[in-house]
Amino acid sequence: MTLDDVRARDGADPLRACRDRFRLPDGLVYLDGNSLGALPKAAVARQREVVEREWGRSLIRSWNEHDWIGAPQRIGARIAPLIGAKPHEVIVADSVSVNLFKLITAAVALSPDRPVLLSEPGNFHTDLHVASGAAELVPDLRLETAPRDRIEAALGPDTNLLLLTHVHYKTGERFDMAGVTRAAKGAGALTLWDLSHSVGAVPLHLNRDGAELAVGCGYKYLNGGPGAPAFLYVAEHLQERLLPTLRGWMGHAAPFAFADDYVPAPGISRFLAGTPPMLSLLALESGVESFDGVDMDAAWAKSIALFDLFAALVEECCAGHGLECITPRDPALRGSHISYRHPHAFEICQALIAAEVIGDFRAPDVIRFGLTPLYLGYEDIWTAVERLADILETGRWRDPRFAVRGKVT
Ligand SMILES: Cc1ncc(COP(=O)(O)O)c(C=O)c1O
Repeated sequence: MTLDDVRARDGADPLRACRDRFRLPDGLVYLDGNSLGALPKAAVARQREVVEREWGRSLIRSWNEHDWIGAPQRIGARIAPLIGAKPHEVIVADSVSVNLFKLITAAVALSPDRPVLLSEPGNFHTDLHVASGAAELVPDLRLETAPRDRIEAALGPDTNLLLLTHVHYKTGERFDMAGVTRAAKGAGALTLWDLSHSVGAVPLHLNRDGAELAVGCGYKYLNGGPGAPAFLYVAEHLQERLLPTLRGWMGHAAPFAFADDYVPAPGISRFLAGTPPMLSLLALESGVESFDGVDMDAAWAKSIALFDLFAALVEECCAGHGLECITPRDPALRGSHISYRHPHAFEICQALIAAEVIGDFRAPDVIRFGLTPLYLGYEDIWTAVERLADILETGRWRDPRFAVRGKVT
């Protein structure tokens, strides 16, 4: 593989034009779109319009005049095709953490005689923290974990809800959504999927795969901006059966009736709680729009090619420096990032950032590279590995300044 080959692949890339939808600094290789997506150019113009015209001039009238009030459902409906769901099965609200709480507490109430909330050790920590809090609140419920290769064996008549992250945030390993959901159903349990590292990255077919419940992140591959609201999905057949425990006025059947008694809104809207954060919500809408016209199968095909190129170049150029790939090679078994273990992953990551290649570090010893097909090209991968190889070869990462840890690592 030569630089000319790589450039030829960029020239033939059907998604090449999508890069122009984003504002990225020249010379920077951004491999952290799985943590914070890039800035869509459309968001810049839209935010200006929202602040100056909708907020500045129309003020409170915008809730009706600019349909702010309909944004959680409208943006949910735009996310739906990316996850293989119906438009009225998805709504945007709050954070993943809060949505996990909402769905766990509502779902476990359907089977009070089943005491186990099952997850896997090493799941993203917010999922486990929220689950343990929910388990303490709900009488007789307890959180249990089983390693991923023993999840199906751990399912049984006691299992109430299975909570899993579809693509693992650290290793990139991916569960077989259809198979696991089927196994849980067979044991009489519901499954709640965290799609934070899947949505906008891998093809998803929630309806086809029988998924009942899901949550997902807006600020990663969906490019919704820092702290963007998250989304939640409830399969149509469950919506009227789930009664929210976090009951806010926006999830009421008639929020502007100001009634004392709680009546849940019909359908997915009952999972709203408080007033939607309009600036963030509309930035997320611009992020979701960056997928307009993008065939997710084509995006996934490109992700696979970017991954294969990255892995091959690292094998060729960084051999002997102790990088151990912990992400499965088989595309069916992984998401859209590639992770390496190294005892000095933190320092190497910092040295790379100083060389204008942004990946990220996950404690204690993992360096992750997000492969976002909308705005990355094959030459970016070439450049990133070239700089990585140079850092390893020269040992530049040993500079003490690369060992300094900020609050966010
Ligand atoms: C798998 C997973 N779930 C949840 C979260 C956190 O979501 P939020 O900050 O919206 O609560 C993250 C953040 O990185 C994540 O990777």
